[in-house]
Amino acid sequence: MNIPNYVEAKSTDKRSYKRVDFEFDKKIKNKYRGKKFFLKTYGCQMNEHDSENIEALLEYLGFEKVSDYYDADLILLNTCSIRENAHNKAFGMLGRIKHLKSEKKNLIVGLCGCMAQEASVVDEIMRDYRFVNFVFGTHNLHELPNILDKAITEDKQEIEVFSREGDLVEGVPVVRANSYKAYVNIIYGCNKFCTYCIVPYTRGRERSRLKEDILKEVDELIEDSYKEITLLGQNVNAYGKDIYEDYTLGNLLEDIAKKDIPRIRFMTSHPWDFTDSMIEVIGKYPNIMPSVHLPVQSGSNRILKLMGRRYTKESYLELFDKIKKIVPGCAISTDIIVGFPGETEEDFKETLDLVEKCKYDNAFTFIFSKRDGTPACKLEDKVSMEEKEERLQRLNEVVNKYFLENNKKLENKEVLVLVEGVSEKKKMYFGYSETNKLINFSASKNLEVGSIVKVKITSAKTWSLDGVLVE
Ligand code: SAH
Ligand code: SF4
Ligand code: F3S
Repeated sequence: MNIPNYVEAKSTDKRSYKRVDFEFDKKIKNKYRGKKFFLKTYGCQMNEHDSENIEALLEYLGFEKVSDYYDADLILLNTCSIRENAHNKAFGMLGRIKHLKSEKKNLIVGLCGCMAQEASVVDEIMRDYRFVNFVFGTHNLHELPNILDKAITEDKQEIEVFSREGDLVEGVPVVRANSYKAYVNIIYGCNKFCTYCIVPYTRGRERSRLKEDILKEVDELIEDSYKEITLLGQNVNAYGKDIYEDYTLGNLLEDIAKKDIPRIRFMTSHPWDFTDSMIEVIGKYPNIMPSVHLPVQSGSNRILKLMGRRYTKESYLELFDKIKKIVPGCAISTDIIVGFPGETEEDFKETLDLVEKCKYDNAFTFIFSKRDGTPACKLEDKVSMEEKEERLQRLNEVVNKYFLENNKKLENKEVLVLVEGVSEKKKMYFGYSETNKLINFSASKNLEVGSIVKVKITSAKTWSLDGVLVE
């Protein structure tokens, strides 16, 4: 048994890790043939991609996927800790599973992902959720087959969570959710320690994958006719800093852009690590999509400092303008937190002012949520929930106004869309433009999913655009 420890997870001392190749334990291949699994994923793209690995590992054991948890022999929750509601959703699901397990004694239940890295969550599971058969963390996902097998054969609660990142494991098998767009991890973990954020404790320190491993994965995706790859990391702009003297995200983007892949995306970018040469590469290659997610969090310098974000409103705006200037037609989206402890009406107005200046194409807005063990947890928080909700509403009104205004500019213009399918509700094709906008469109002929087509925009809405295929 290994239970998580926050002191270890927080430590910033230099860690050493090796790059190792994943190996299957052949003894347990297909051991659970005929059994069914249900996998529920919460949280970000990182978790979605981890679930693609989890699925492949379970299939190796012989499990088959089902989409209704009532039909499953194994239920696994891949969890997220970022805000309290993500945490509550997973515990709510555990409550429902508890009922099911009282009727279905042989049901196996597992929990993994970011919540598994939290000592308080694991304590609670060991105390009040004895029916959970196994727990593993984000650092030992590749060990799932053996952990699960042990939990079943020994019939006792199996907790295997490492507080520190272990080796960088390459070649973990993957069942991709999609046949034309794919996620590729380039860097794991985060070293930024923004004072409100739990991610550095649940995902460990920054570890870049070797460029050779990334480029090989990209080549394989191209061979399999993938059309779009998204490079993933909590802060992709820090790529390479930990292992190379002189090879950055800019170099990696350039090496990938020279390949025969129509669309390259990357996320998320921390403004602090964004260099001019990266912006130039994004502007230079037409297959690097003109779409940057640049979380700002707040427009108040006082709050940015308390958040530990390492930039000011002014330096953010300077970077924003530079990207807009160097990357033609670039759409910029953001994340914003309202109600950080001590945020005054003046601070909040600074955020509104910044939004008025940036006129974002998209924005994810959140109310600050206290996360156990983070420095912001200890700050005095006098702002009432009512007030925070009111600020969120005011903020959303402004961001929505600009989503629509930006979309309106596309009316009567032609955009390139990667076709994703036909929407059930509207019976129209849908897909995303280069600037990552959702486009619903009609076409008088059959289109292949995964093809890139030209669409003329007929009308703009706040969160999507309608159009017709240009034939
Ligand atoms: N690595 C990414 C963010 C990942 S988390 C980045 O720094 O850009 C996604 C978003 O969740 C963050 O940008 C932030 O806006 C929000 N978030 C993180 N911790 C939060 C908290 N404690 N309360 C509310 N929102 C939070
Ligand atoms: Fe969290 Fe900040 Fe790291 Fe993003 S950069 S994951 S917000 S600590
Ligand atoms: Fe959530 Fe972990 Fe992602 S906390 S947002 S799943 S890195």
